[in-house]
Amino acid sequence: MKPTQTHIITQKFQERFKKKPSLFVAPGRINLIGEHIDYNEGFVMPAAIDKHFVFAVAPSGNEKCNIYAHDYEEGVSFSIHDLHPGEAWINYLMGVLDGFRRKDLLKGGVDCVFGGNIPSGAGMASSAALCCGFGFALNEIFSMGLDRKALAQIAQYSEHEFADVNCGIMDQYASLFGEKNSALLLDCRNLTYKVLPFHCSSHSLLLVDTKVKHALGSTAYNDRRDACEQGMKMIRKKHPLVNSLRDVTRTMLYETQDQLGEDIFIKCLFIVAEISRAQKAGELLKRNDWKGFGELMYEAHWGLSQAYEVSCEELDYLVMLAEEDKGMVPGSRMMGGGFGGCTINLIDKDKEDIFKEIVSQKYFATFKKEPDFYSIKLSQGVHKLMNKP
Ligand code: GLA
Repeated sequence: MKPTQTHIITQKFQERFKKKPSLFVAPGRINLIGEHIDYNEGFVMPAAIDKHFVFAVAPSGNEKCNIYAHDYEEGVSFSIHDLHPGEAWINYLMGVLDGFRRKDLLKGGVDCVFGGNIPSGAGMASSAALCCGFGFALNEIFSMGLDRKALAQIAQYSEHEFADVNCGIMDQYASLFGEKNSALLLDCRNLTYKVLPFHCSSHSLLLVDTKVKHALGSTAYNDRRDACEQGMKMIRKKHPLVNSLRDVTRTMLYETQDQLGEDIFIKCLFIVAEISRAQKAGELLKRNDWKGFGELMYEAHWGLSQAYEVSCEELDYLVMLAEEDKGMVPGSRMMGGGFGGCTINLIDKDKEDIFKEIVSQKYFATFKKEPDFYSIKLSQGVHKLMNKP
């Protein structure tokens, strides 16, 4: 969001509530590699990006919450004693408030105006940014003293209990812990991470949006998670120390292949491979080996598409186009939950314009839709904006 847009959110707040707000910024995320791995306790490599929400927030002084979504031109008022799952954006914010309520921390209502530039349904984790930014803001203005890890868990609670998406915790960690010009190598088992500086003078990160809106709430995401859980439990019968697919080796999988059945076996095999790919990718990133890193991205994509079955025709088509010239695009894959959204492309900086032109023409000719392009910078996680004196 440009500073002028921050200005608009502040102005809207002042018009509605006749007082000064505190301002907060909450970014979306990309993920370089390690997809559908967070809920299997493996390694992921996300980063916060320069697409975000801005929140203008102040205590309401009573038990009411008055929230206005600038982008939807829609306002909602409700009591902190009336929190329940519902529809659209307010659902996520109610879930966050309820997360604080469960901890007995919610003592008053809030006035809030928010807006941003994270495209929704494009795989950049706009809902996580919404929950993390709102939670961070509440924690600050009411001095509740929770750390970022607890805020990530509240944001995840909102997705699980209010949006009915049984997501992992990668998106929330990226939004809250992201650092400028860096990715995080997050160990989703113990929630520790290494900051990996992303210094690449030769290549940039370009997202290509299929404009196919994914709906993670649709059962497909939760079904994948269930398949992994079922697989893990069957393997555990023979190997009692196994607690997640993170603990599973290929040998264990092949031993239990018959009991698992073909579908669960193939899905678990993908997860085991993707966990090791993300670890390998971390090493390649440290050595600035972009060719090797990119190869892993392609490998990951075709696994996500053919084995894990979370891609779609449009995503596959975009990756195929990228793969036609690996000199220009050393790596490309679908990003996030899947079933639509964006591909993430590691691309030769000098060739970005040519690539965009080729993709635009061919994608339109095939799907009668214009793709969107987003050049991404890796940015700081959720933070408070200092008011100008
Ligand atoms: C969504 C979920 C994440 C993660 C990704 C896939 O973004 O919210 O927890 O599982 O899909 O990697």
